[in-house]
Amino acid sequence: MTRALARTGPFPHRGGMTATTLPGSTFQLADDLAVTRFGYGAMQLAGPYVMGPPADHDEALRVLREAVELGITHIDTSDAYGPFITNQILKEALHPYPDSVHVVTKVGALRDPEGGWPVARSPEQLRESIHSNLDHLGLDVLDVVNLRVGGPLGPEPGSIEEAFTTLVELQREGLVRHLGVSNATAEQVAEARAIAPIVCVQNFYNIANRHDDGLIDELAADGVAYVPFFPLGGFSPLQSDVLSGVAQRLDASPMAVALAWLLRRSPNILLIPGTSSVAHLRENVAGAGLVLSDDDYAELGAIA
Ligand SMILES: NC(=O)c1ccc[n+]([C@@H]2O[C@H](COP(=O)([O-])OP(=O)(O)OC[C@H]3O[C@@H](n4cnc5c(N)ncnc54)[C@H](OP(=O)(O)O)[C@@H]3O)[C@@H](O)[C@H]2O)c1
Repeated sequence: MTRALARTGPFPHRGGMTATTLPGSTFQLADDLAVTRFGYGAMQLAGPYVMGPPADHDEALRVLREAVELGITHIDTSDAYGPFITNQILKEALHPYPDSVHVVTKVGALRDPEGGWPVARSPEQLRESIHSNLDHLGLDVLDVVNLRVGGPLGPEPGSIEEAFTTLVELQREGLVRHLGVSNATAEQVAEARAIAPIVCVQNFYNIANRHDDGLIDELAADGVAYVPFFPLGGFSPLQSDVLSGVAQRLDASPMAVALAWLLRRSPNILLIPGTSSVAHLRENVAGAGLVLSDDDYAELGAIA
């Protein structure tokens, strides 16, 4: 069995929580903000199709508390999940938040009653969304806010200047510490960076979907984080004979191998795998510490 846990941490906690060891190290998003590379994506805590309450509210609370207990300091969320449900559950589970925990949220889309994701990027809508996130999360200031652009099928071209400039104004007003962009083209990322510094880009990427390879390397050179959403395939879980073959050989789960591959792919990649179950959360944290050999890494890299 070729398996070893990368040693990192421990991470400081408040309230007597036990520090633990997570795969990956910490990443310095900004001078005043470091997060664990292994984070948690909270979207799965809402109901089916990211609408309404979860089937098991208590399990949702347990997942969040376990994530913090395991040492995770980066939790990704949005008021659009539920809508509002995920942020409300986060507040219920963790407020007052341990000093170590940093919640990253996003604005730029709302939800309609049919489950659609209508664009909401006017200055008025963005301002309202920031206040709504603050309220639902129970915070006075948001650590990181991503401007979600594009549409349900992915990034769409077009200027984001007005929307991003609005977030910069909200940042100057002290409601937001750091900014990022999500679901964005490389051109939109460059446009945002020309207006103000960003600390992260959150786009669709995983071992089988590698369209952002160039962007990841570019951001890595500048110390900007790349945070892949759907790291496990999202609504279409990753399926690949190569992934399954390597996982079997290493006596690991395909999910673990997919996460370990991302951690090795670039030091600026931060993980936010989603799950609604404590068992899967623990499995993912334990599994992603898998160290891939050069041969395994190269074989997996050919999946895309
Ligand atoms: N910026 C954007 O536009 C955008 C879009 C989508 C998502 N996101 C963010 O990205 C995060 C991650 O995306 P995601 O949660 O949709 O997708 P994901 O992390 O790729 O996959 C989550 C799915 O994998 C399953 N899963 C997790 N661990 C597993 C395990 N060990 N074994 C088997 N199944 C497992 C989960 O089911 P269980 O619940 O049963 O574990 C869930 O169905 C989200 O939480 C959200 O914060 C952002």
